[in-house]
Amino acid sequence: MNAFIKGLPKAELHLHIEGSLEPELMFALARRNKVSLPFSSVEAVRSAYAFGNLQDFLDIYYQGAQVLLTEEDFHDLAVAYFTRLAADGGVHAEIFFDPQTHTDRGVPFAVVAGGLLSGMAWAEQNLSVTSKLILCFLRHLPEDAALATLKMAEPWLDRIVGVGLDSSEKGFPPSGFARVFKAARERGLKLVAHAGEEGPPDYVWEALDLLNVDRIDHGNRALEDQKLVARLAAKGMTLTVCPLSNLKLCVVDDLKVHPLKRMLDLGLKATINSDDPAYFGGYLGENWRQTAAALSLSRSEIILLAKNSFTGSFLSPSEIQTHLARIDAYAS
Ligand code: ADE
Ligand code: ZN
Repeated sequence: MNAFIKGLPKAELHLHIEGSLEPELMFALARRNKVSLPFSSVEAVRSAYAFGNLQDFLDIYYQGAQVLLTEEDFHDLAVAYFTRLAADGGVHAEIFFDPQTHTDRGVPFAVVAGGLLSGMAWAEQNLSVTSKLILCFLRHLPEDAALATLKMAEPWLDRIVGVGLDSSEKGFPPSGFARVFKAARERGLKLVAHAGEEGPPDYVWEALDLLNVDRIDHGNRALEDQKLVARLAAKGMTLTVCPLSNLKLCVVDDLKVHPLKRMLDLGLKATINSDDPAYFGGYLGENWRQTAAALSLSRSEIILLAKNSFTGSFLSPSEIQTHLARIDAYAS
């Protein structure tokens, strides 16, 4: 099954580019930029990656991002990610970035977006991997800061497909971001939000009803509410599920009890994604392999998950059809 998964065309719809910063690159950039790190070695960084919950991870993730300073850094980060994605048979990615993590420490928006877009162009030319950029607002910061970020992004909006909502979930419900999501929608942007990772089903309802999202990132806890499951299924709402992330952040105790298979059985449009692969022990391929093995996914479930990753993407209908035809040709 692993060889079949590797060759299967797949898209990644939930990837924080800052979460693909491997400790080796973190050290290289710290040296290049003369930034000091609170770790003595790559091994010391890796051994700090034991998290009890989302906040434990976020504290270390924001610290790691501080080595990213120049356009070249963001370009190199993106190139490293896309190289890994291509090796796993990934052909398209819609990647998140957190501009506030950088602009709040004086790194201009143009440096961040410029570097990432140049890495994305490199991937298209050199790996034939296509990609789109999603700007995430940090929900632990006020909505006014998100509105200011959207304004800052204005000159770049023709190269940004949508906006998202990430960072600490509990205590920061989607309802706090209705104005900025409305403003983004009026600008023609797609909308996604993290909901139901640690937060309650109510946050998923809010993301649907108050933010009008096009996709739910995670959505695990939606399964606690039957009415919500019915609503998500009826809408054909894509859930960007992240199995190894869920394991590392103690959202699930064991991959064998991960809700992904149950989601498919309930008619939900689930996808497999890596979230922050440098921190959670695996890129897209590793998430697929470990999840397929732990849940004994069938060949037809695996094909369905690959198809969901394209039908849930922000590619055009004709691009989606092309990818679906490739999957059918591969699987026949
Ligand atoms: N930022 C990076 N990874 C995240 C996650 N899994 N949940 C919320 N915010 C994040
Ligand atoms: Zn995430």
